[in-house]
Amino acid sequence: MIILSIESSCDETSVSVTREREILSNIVSTQIAEHRIYGGVVPEIASRRHTEAISAVCDEAVRAAGVTYDELDAIAVTFAPGLIGALLVGVNFAKGLAMSLNIPLIPVHHLRSHIAANYITNKELKPPFLCLTVSGGNTIITEVRDYTKFEPIGATFDDAAGECFDKTARCLGLQYPGGVTLDKIATVSDFKKYPLPYPKSPAGEYDFSFSGLKTAVINLVHNATQKGEEIDIPVLAATVRERVCDMLITNTLKAAKDKGHKTLCLAGGVSANSELRRRMEEECEKEGITLYYPELKYCGDNAAMVGVQGYYEFLSGNTAGADLNAAATLPINYR
Ligand code: KG4
Repeated sequence: MIILSIESSCDETSVSVTREREILSNIVSTQIAEHRIYGGVVPEIASRRHTEAISAVCDEAVRAAGVTYDELDAIAVTFAPGLIGALLVGVNFAKGLAMSLNIPLIPVHHLRSHIAANYITNKELKPPFLCLTVSGGNTIITEVRDYTKFEPIGATFDDAAGECFDKTARCLGLQYPGGVTLDKIATVSDFKKYPLPYPKSPAGEYDFSFSGLKTAVINLVHNATQKGEEIDIPVLAATVRERVCDMLITNTLKAAKDKGHKTLCLAGGVSANSELRRRMEEECEKEGITLYYPELKYCGDNAAMVGVQGYYEFLSGNTAGADLNAAATLPINYR
């Protein structure tokens, strides 16, 4: 079954052609350079750029896959959660394409597709497993009971881990998306110089909270600036990364042990973090847990993961009509 999939939930316009778990093409047109001057994604600009790019990106994906539009069996599209204007561009384009080709339309939940990025690289992987999904907008621990059966058991109480990385990085003068740069410069392991708090969630035992850490960094930098003191940026970056990784790893491993999972996956943009991968590998090895994560190119937003999850959604009977709408928020177990 050949699926053309579309992703436009944030600042990447991406179209892919997939056959089950096989990627025939995956074109990603990123808007990062444009949003960089604002230090974050500007929703209205994102929607406009998706509108301008989507048609050409789609043609390029079909051409690169070596197929014709007539050979497509279905159209999959990210419909939630995300920036509403940005999602609507993809959803409306997908609806028009599915209707004109008279083929099924498959709605795909953004976080489900991040999890599915693991199926691309790890051919042997199949549910059940536990997954930590960490991105710019979400931090969530999910029991993946089957390809389309999800049980969220922990999530962030306030900011996502990626938001915490991006905003502290901005405060240190690093370019958007700061998480990437912060990871690169955090090469030291002196965690005593800056007494940042260890984040703790006031909610459930597998939940997260990162806003206190973000505020602590912002206050620390402002105080130092007022006193004319210089900040040791690599040390502060490494300390932030250590605190975030600690919280992510502690809660996820506790959940894995409590729920008896021997297979664990990482997903989302922040799963590219080198320290998170290294420490999680170490801890999983100690606990006899098999760890999977996506190839770096499938960690951030891309349409290939939408096509792969779309295939399983189609098998479970999840298709939509011309009345499909986008949604800014939607739980992963919505269906
Ligand atoms: O999954 P994604 O591309 O978009 C969302 O759906 O949010 O994730 C983007 C997030 C940004 O916050 C970015 O800073 C973060 O992923 N990120 C990283 C790294 N690479 C990307 N954060 C920490 N370390 C990295 N290496």
